Amino acid sequence: MIRKTLMTTTVTAIAITAVFATTGTMPGVSDPARMESLYQLHCQGCHLPGGEGFPEHDVPRMTDTLGHFARLEEGRRYLIQVPGSFGAPIDNQDLAEITNWMIYTFSPNTVDETFKPFTAEEVSRLRKAYDGDILAKREELVDALKAAGNYPDSTQ
Ligand code: HEC
Repeated sequence: MIRKTLMTTTVTAIAITAVFATTGTMPGVSDPARMESLYQLHCQGCHLPGGEGFPEHDVPRMTDTLGHFARLEEGRRYLIQVPGSFGAPIDNQDLAEITNWMIYTFSPNTVDETFKPFTAEEVSRLRKAYDGDILAKREELVDALKAAGNYPDSTQ
C-alpha cells in the first residue's frame, strides 16, 4: 500500500515535470520535438542545426539575436515575412510555433518575461500584410538593435 502510494506520487511528479517541460518552459510551442523536425526538414540546410547559419554567406546567425527582433513591432513583421519563413510550406500555426521554438532554442538569452509568443492569428495577419520590401528592413532593424546594444557585434 505504501509502495503503491509512493509510486503514484512519483508518477504524478514525473507527469507534472513533463507537462512543465513542454508547456511551462516554451509558451506558444505545443510540441517542441515536432518543431525540431520541421526545422530539420525546412530550415536547417541553410541555418544549420544550432542556428549558427553562414554569416560569411549572408545567412545570419540566429543565436543570441531573435528575441531582440521580437520585442519590436517591425521586428516581429520581419521574422515572419523574411522569405525563409513567409514562403515555408507550413501553416500559420506551425510558423508561429517554429518561430517561438527557434527563439527559445537559439536565442534563450534574449527572452525575458516581456516576450509575447507568436500566435497563428498574428502570423496570418503578418503573412497577409506582406508587401515585398522586407529584406531592406533587415539592415534598418539590425542598426537599431546594434545602437541599443542588442545585437552581437562580431557578425553582420
Ligand atoms: C535557402 C536558404 C534558407 C532556408 C531554407 C531558410 N532560410 Fe531563413 N534565412 C536565409 C537567409 C539568406 C536569411 C537572411 C535574410 C535573407 O536574405 O533572406 C534568413 C533569415 C531568416 C530569419 C531572420 C534572421 C535574421 O537575423 O535576419 C529567420 C527568422 C528565418 N530566416 C527563418 C527561417 C525558417 C523558419 C526557415 C524554415 C521554415 C528558414 N528560415 C529557411 C536563408 C534560408
